[in-house]
Amino acid sequence: MKCWRVRPLPGGSALRGTMRVPGDKSISHRALILSGMAGEVEPEIENLLESEDVKATREIIRKVFGGGTGGEEKGSAETQKPKNAAEGGDPVLELDCGNSGTTIRLMMGVLSGRKGCCFRLDGDASLRRRPMERVAAPLRKMGACIETNEGRPPVRIEGRELIGTRVQLSVASAQVKSALLLAGLQATGTTEITSPAPSRDHTERMLNYFGVPVEGSGNGRAVAVRGPASLAPRPVSVPGDISSAAFFLVAAALIPGSELSIENLGLNPTRTGILDCFDAAGVSWEAQGIETVSGEPRGKVSVRAGEFSAFGIAGDLVPRLIDEIPVLALLAAHSAGGLSVFRDAAELRVKESDRIARIAEVFGRIGLVVRTRDDGLEIPGGQSVRGGTVSSGGDHRIAMTAAVAGLVSREGVIVEDVACVETSFPGFQETVERLAPGVIEAIEG
Ligand code: S3P
Repeated sequence: MKCWRVRPLPGGSALRGTMRVPGDKSISHRALILSGMAGEVEPEIENLLESEDVKATREIIRKVFGGGTGGEEKGSAETQKPKNAAEGGDPVLELDCGNSGTTIRLMMGVLSGRKGCCFRLDGDASLRRRPMERVAAPLRKMGACIETNEGRPPVRIEGRELIGTRVQLSVASAQVKSALLLAGLQATGTTEITSPAPSRDHTERMLNYFGVPVEGSGNGRAVAVRGPASLAPRPVSVPGDISSAAFFLVAAALIPGSELSIENLGLNPTRTGILDCFDAAGVSWEAQGIETVSGEPRGKVSVRAGEFSAFGIAGDLVPRLIDEIPVLALLAAHSAGGLSVFRDAAELRVKESDRIARIAEVFGRIGLVVRTRDDGLEIPGGQSVRGGTVSSGGDHRIAMTAAVAGLVSREGVIVEDVACVETSFPGFQETVERLAPGVIEAIEG
């Protein structure tokens, strides 16, 4: 098993300079999916994230829209096309989503409208534990034919004629909203989706950019698309992923003397909740040179280390920073004092792992006190990381949070099971090593 040994940054050294992080994962998935739906199976995408999750989407787009299995020469005997059951032969196209919730959920919307074709979507052990009825149930209201395995993958879909419908979501999930919008493109009539809180709007922005108007896009809770609609493919440039940048922004805030800038960073307001937390806590940061490229704002964000206070996370802020909560919990433990309460975040329990339980387990092993709630965490400030050995539990964001904890620890942290980091941040170890030579090494555990 691949592990990391992370040493504390030597006294007096800090994180300084200007860096970049890999392309945004959410935007990369959407660029491949929307381009595929627009007939571009091998699109030119600048700064596409080359991670395992995005590779899963790329392979699926090739199989579904390109008629190929991905690795073979074009037109070879292995070429598989989804077959109409009436034509005989194996009618089911098997699609492997790996660890990626975004791939399976968005593709459920895409495939539901592929009339005459049959698909089976599956993934790894973590994905097989994640809820899919939140997508399947509203899609069925549009006429989709979907079977789940007691609510979880594998998911079997028979493409059908879809009808635009009004849907009220019970969770503020961009994956569910996006699946319905992508189904809505293929449906007859208007598909209107209302969410309990705004969630990331990359799908809406990219649909608009590809020539399909989405009503109510922006920060609203209700969005609508009229089908059937066809997409006009356009070149996409992917900004850096703020969820990947979060590890370095927090590390820079914590390590005395640090002053770190991250350029070309995605700054979509539905994703910048971490910067709201910095404001609430008094962490010093600034954004410069903001411009909009292929429908998404980006710019340079700089953070400076200094003292900061406890901060809360609740309500509409939660979807704007949901993936950053593990590393924000580490930040909260180092506040000058007081209690940081993170609530309304029960969604954390159904991510790549139960992140509430995982954070409590990992923090406990490295000497940090944290109390769990059903819907979040309570984290006393004024703490510092002792060190120890922890397991990521196969969750990439837990692995990278534990690595940052190692940098600010007294005794160092061994992080077990770090291969999962490839799902979102290939090159994380090398990026840490460039900023702080000698602090991180890969070991076999
Ligand atoms: C994502 C949406 C979020 C997020 C995930 C990526 C997306 O999930 O946690 O990492 O690309 O739409 P939910 O939609 O389940 O909140």
